[in-house]
Amino acid sequence: MAAMTDRYAVFGHPIAHSKSPHIHAAFARQTGQDMTYEAILAPLDGFAASVAQFIVVGGRGANITVPFKEQAFALANRLSPRAQRAGAVNTLLFDADGILGDNTDGAGLVADLTRNLNCPLAGKRILLVGAGGAARGVIEPLLDQKPSALVIANRTVSRAQELAGLFGHGVTACGFDAADTPFDLVINATAASLAGELPPLSPRVFTADTLAYDMMYGRDTPFLSFARTHGAATADGLGMLVEQAAEAFYLWRGVRPDTAPVIAALRA
Ligand code: ATR
Repeated sequence: MAAMTDRYAVFGHPIAHSKSPHIHAAFARQTGQDMTYEAILAPLDGFAASVAQFIVVGGRGANITVPFKEQAFALANRLSPRAQRAGAVNTLLFDADGILGDNTDGAGLVADLTRNLNCPLAGKRILLVGAGGAARGVIEPLLDQKPSALVIANRTVSRAQELAGLFGHGVTACGFDAADTPFDLVINATAASLAGELPPLSPRVFTADTLAYDMMYGRDTPFLSFARTHGAATADGLGMLVEQAAEAFYLWRGVRPDTAPVIAALRA
């Protein structure tokens, strides 16, 4: 009997505009992996059932996006240490032992910063803007790079303080008005860009040596144009998207795809 082609998918709601099927198809072609990858719109009240159904029909792994990353965390019966610290799961692996939950978002961000953007993080001052799930998912991998400071600034200061408290020393919290000294790297992990809004940051966080990074991709956000106006270099989150996908692909297939041509094709 011929072996079934391994199936993978991304689950989200909405999901129609996801670039993940395109990215993983490119990785599979490049590395000669026999697999399929599809986008699945899970009902808002039916995520777990949707995943269970996919496993029955031959699913071997999945990516998870908004709004299911916390539900995926709860669904997994094993968690990688980085998923545990992130409190959310963006990658599932289905095997004989059940469901492994991992989180490749932070590794994707760090890979994009250090490899693609040539921005080493050791000894750097990092300002992380936002204190929701997107921010939490990247803190541990950023700390692993040994920055000299990681400051979380958030509109609701108490959320930033709670988040900093989860990670211990080296991480501090403040409100937007208190973040007013220069940083080497400013990462926008708020949902403000989605709404076309600008987090009310002080322009003093930016210098000509600052990299401003928006985790959102696909458009020039108010955050990026504000940073550019104040002299900073800028980057959107497209590289992070491709790098987190590559990290998931490696978990599933044991092969590391070359991300550069895939990022270039998406930009073109
Ligand atoms: P996610 O999982 O995408 O991080 P979330 O947990 O709802 O979503 O968190 C959204 C983050 O964006 C929060 O840090 C939120 O600030 P508050 O904690 O004060 O709500 C931030 N945010 C959303 N809209 C914003 C805006 N217009 N300006 C600044 N921060 C904003």
